[in-house]
Amino acid sequence: MCGIVGYVGSQSALEVVLAGLRRLEYRGYDSAGVAVLADGGIAAAKKSGKLVNLEKALVDRPLPAGATGIGHTRWATHGGPTDANAHPHLDNAGRVAVVHNGIIENFAELRAELAARGHALTSETDTEVVAHLLAEEFSGRADLAAAMRLVCRRLKGAFTLVAVHADAPDVVVGARRNSPLVVGVGEGEAFLASDVAAFIAHTRSAVELGQDQVVEVRRDGAAGGVGVAVTDFDGRPADVRHFRVDWDAAAAEKGGHASFMHKEIAEQPRAVADTLLGRIGADGELILDELRIPAAELREVDKVVVVACGTAFHAGLIAKYAIEHWTRIPCEVELASEFRYRDPILDARSLVVAVSQSGETMDTLMALRHAREQGSRVLAICNTNGSTIPRESDAVLYTHAGPEVAVASTKAFLTQLVACYLVALYLGQARGTKWGDEVLGVVRDLADIAGAVERVLADMEPVRALARSLAGAGTVLFLGRHVGYPVALEGALKLKELAYMHAEGFAAGELKHGPIALVEEGLPVVVVVPSPRGRSVLHDKIVSNIQEIRARGARTIVIAEEGDEAVVPCADHVVWVPVTPTLLQPLVTTVPLQVFACELAVARGNEVDQPRNLAKSVTVE
Ligand code: G6P
Repeated sequence: MCGIVGYVGSQSALEVVLAGLRRLEYRGYDSAGVAVLADGGIAAAKKSGKLVNLEKALVDRPLPAGATGIGHTRWATHGGPTDANAHPHLDNAGRVAVVHNGIIENFAELRAELAARGHALTSETDTEVVAHLLAEEFSGRADLAAAMRLVCRRLKGAFTLVAVHADAPDVVVGARRNSPLVVGVGEGEAFLASDVAAFIAHTRSAVELGQDQVVEVRRDGAAGGVGVAVTDFDGRPADVRHFRVDWDAAAAEKGGHASFMHKEIAEQPRAVADTLLGRIGADGELILDELRIPAAELREVDKVVVVACGTAFHAGLIAKYAIEHWTRIPCEVELASEFRYRDPILDARSLVVAVSQSGETMDTLMALRHAREQGSRVLAICNTNGSTIPRESDAVLYTHAGPEVAVASTKAFLTQLVACYLVALYLGQARGTKWGDEVLGVVRDLADIAGAVERVLADMEPVRALARSLAGAGTVLFLGRHVGYPVALEGALKLKELAYMHAEGFAAGELKHGPIALVEEGLPVVVVVPSPRGRSVLHDKIVSNIQEIRARGARTIVIAEEGDEAVVPCADHVVWVPVTPTLLQPLVTTVPLQVFACELAVARGNEVDQPRNLAKSVTVE
């Protein structure tokens, strides 16, 4: 994620940028930094931790005044949340400063190339290469926008970049590919920002940048105005589309959404795509973020144990299906809070996978420490760079969901699933149970998922209407089979957390062994139906289950794959999801359940971002 602000005008750039960063801090708060053009050079300050740390540092060591500047509030991806990794990043001469949101996939090769040309890179970030490349392209050309275009053409991945150069004192340039950037146009001033929240106090006139475009905002001294010029990466002028922002400041922070949860649900296609970025190496092999386990040890692993809590536990339950299917290694999934108290059988050949959005959940941390004491290796799947769980693990795969503000997890869950699939493939690759082309085939299927999630989200009004109609219901049951079973558990958990309703998830096959006694006239039952392709036996069995509960009066709400006409006769409501490979289906079937729970909660008058009695990160056992 990360929040970015750029400013050129006549006010104090430092004050405008800091005020903008305050409004963007929800996008990340690992570190913050600013750079201001002043006295013919660049004055910069940066500090790890929340923005307030930077503000304190600026009181002790004020920056000289300037009217052009940039700033950044970071959600760490490459490199821990330290002062050195904080943005802005400068070139060796300190003449160019750049801030970045996103992931530059080919940074390692660019870094090697720069080092060979004598550049000294001082951080662990992917961003720093851009400062050095920009400095090279600017020299002799003295056109920062042109330099930015040349650099962008060399970058792979997703990025928003905003930069200033000491020799272009009235200019700020920005660029975007697959990450957000908007331009605010005021009277004699202009703003570049990750979202409009950063400049709404100054202007409501905005310009949206398209994909693969570079923008230059320039103060025109003589006319007292600012010019905004937009081109593509090849320098061809692009149409500039102006729009008016009519959100108030609080709505702007949520991107116009009613709550952070609505926003985070909507962000899932992007979050899923970001988590896949940079995973395939030059030789087609999968890469983790940090790996301190020798390959030989990974090949010897004879048991995988996933430990996690809450929603992350449900991601683990789904991971089991992929891990066992793709690697043929037995996999157990355990609630972290139960794990160490039952004296689990662990040794050096066990691999423990700890899944945690926050990286701080005490139950999961304690399970991890116990596993390490027994000599097992721990691999963390985590959304928060630099948090305790990844720090104490032997290997890490970071999800790139960006900060999740709403307490109940949505986008972190989908990215945890993507990460679990990647870990399963990684183990398969390391042990030779999956060929390289098979791994790439699944990665391609995963890459298609972002589009599938987007399609699900585009058609959610019937689900919302259904949720509103159930606001008075007492109980909702959720059923699923195979990977749909943990999805049912997650659907029920979302409803408990958000709508404070009695909700239970069951394996559909267990229905006849007890839960069917709960079914009575009008009881809403949500059924996650497996694909009729491939495992048609399971599909047919669940259709029978639906008929059984319908015959007993249940109101059946069926989540099914497009084209699965067999469910229509037994469903009171059908929610269609795109066709996906069987194991990946949770990535699309979970989404309507999130929307359902969120809308039901709103209909019942609940506060969805901060449900009663819950906390985002539970740091006690
Ligand atoms: C809390 C949150 C849940 C979350 C669980 C695990 O209970 O309310 O939404 O799933 O912790 O959190 P973690 O950060 O470890 O994924």
